[in-house]
Amino acid sequence: MIQKMKGTYDITDDIGFYQEIEKVIRKVSRLYNVKEIRTPHFENRELFHRSVGEHSDIVSKETYDFEDRGGRVNTLRPEGTAGIVRALIENKLYADPRVPLKRYYIGSMFRYERPQKGRFREFRQFGAESFGSSHPSQDGEMIDYAMNVLRALKLKNVRVHINSLGGTASKSAYKDALKAHIEPHLETLCRECQIRFETNPLRMLDCKKDKDKDVLKTAPRTFDYLNEDDSAHFEALKRYLDAMKISYTVDHSLVRGLDYYTHTVFELQVSEALLGQQNAICGGGRYNTLVEDLDGPPTPAFGFAFGIERLIVALKENGFTPPSPSLHAYFIIMGDEAREKAMGLMHRLRTGGITCDADFTKRSMKAQFKQSARHNARFAVIIGEEEVAQNTLNLKDQREATEDTIPMNDLYITLMERLTRNTNGSCKDCSEKGDSQ
Ligand code: HAM
Repeated sequence: MIQKMKGTYDITDDIGFYQEIEKVIRKVSRLYNVKEIRTPHFENRELFHRSVGEHSDIVSKETYDFEDRGGRVNTLRPEGTAGIVRALIENKLYADPRVPLKRYYIGSMFRYERPQKGRFREFRQFGAESFGSSHPSQDGEMIDYAMNVLRALKLKNVRVHINSLGGTASKSAYKDALKAHIEPHLETLCRECQIRFETNPLRMLDCKKDKDKDVLKTAPRTFDYLNEDDSAHFEALKRYLDAMKISYTVDHSLVRGLDYYTHTVFELQVSEALLGQQNAICGGGRYNTLVEDLDGPPTPAFGFAFGIERLIVALKENGFTPPSPSLHAYFIIMGDEAREKAMGLMHRLRTGGITCDADFTKRSMKAQFKQSARHNARFAVIIGEEEVAQNTLNLKDQREATEDTIPMNDLYITLMERLTRNTNGSCKDCSEKGDSQ
């Protein structure tokens, strides 16, 4: 038997979590005036080399690259930001006068990582990007947006970690200071950090192997190298977070794994007991030079992405269960003529927004009732030879434990009336008002 590839999984029983999360994302995104964008699952490999960074772990070790039959080198997207920036430039979305331009996306990302709890090779992200504002209030709004998704999902105990890497000049001054501090002790660090020293020095700061070593504990902090403007930006962000009553921790070791960040970086973390080192359910920050680095006009930007699988682990721990939609009606059918009538009636109900189903394998009446219970159907609609002869049907309300014989033609109107009774015109069994109309 062919099995799924390592690090991938089938979404079966958990589908309700994905659907509910997506529903909340769309609802909250509307509140922040953020529209959806969908970009391809694969892009030119160069895009990720020039954005996420050639020496980042993601690009150097984790991408799925493949040459297509035309000899082009493609990469399955390991993250969403690069593709969105490409789309912004290619479609000249930056020319839209409605600045800032805010877009969100939901979809699969691919990284060749060692699979473990909260870490997969195909995983889903919900991300959002805002283009065109360099103001710290935009950082604040985006962090509030991410937190509001969690609030809407009633997820508690999430910590907000923030840091600032500074703009290009501060970041570069800091890198020099960090390297000068570490160089005399370089041989005490792990092999990977020795490589990072040359290629990606900031990543030495969040190395899991070396993080407790004195040389890293006493390392200079990005914070001390911020120039006046960068500091003012970070201080203003803190004031905005305070104004929105979002508590946060300033975390000097937070540097993030992608090269494109400048100024603010942030993560939303849950307890390590839940997800070990994969406890960041969301990460993001400002990237003021990326659009220009990818040949677009200078455009400041801020974004974030959630790992949906990690979010689901946290939600389950929090006792969240997605609503399980029940069926309005289940048809119990005895005989060929009854089946013909039932097909017409089910078509009518579904056209009018009433959910229904039936047994299509000609089982016994008892077995059909069992199926009706399994589907948690509110009504059983029973049609046999006698009902066909009289042009009636038997309607059993399985919640109220009542039973009536009604004319076949009245089925739709009767169900509508009962499903919307005392609910102000909306169906109690439907998720949204008007579903059943
Ligand atoms: P990232 O930190 O690489 O940032 O990923 C964002 C989130 O995706 C992580 O916090 C985590 O929850 C989830 N994630 C990452 N890798 C995996 C994996 N292998 N399995 C399961 N979940 C994973 C980005 O991707 C940036 N594009 C975020 C961003 C948007 N920055 C600015 N705009």
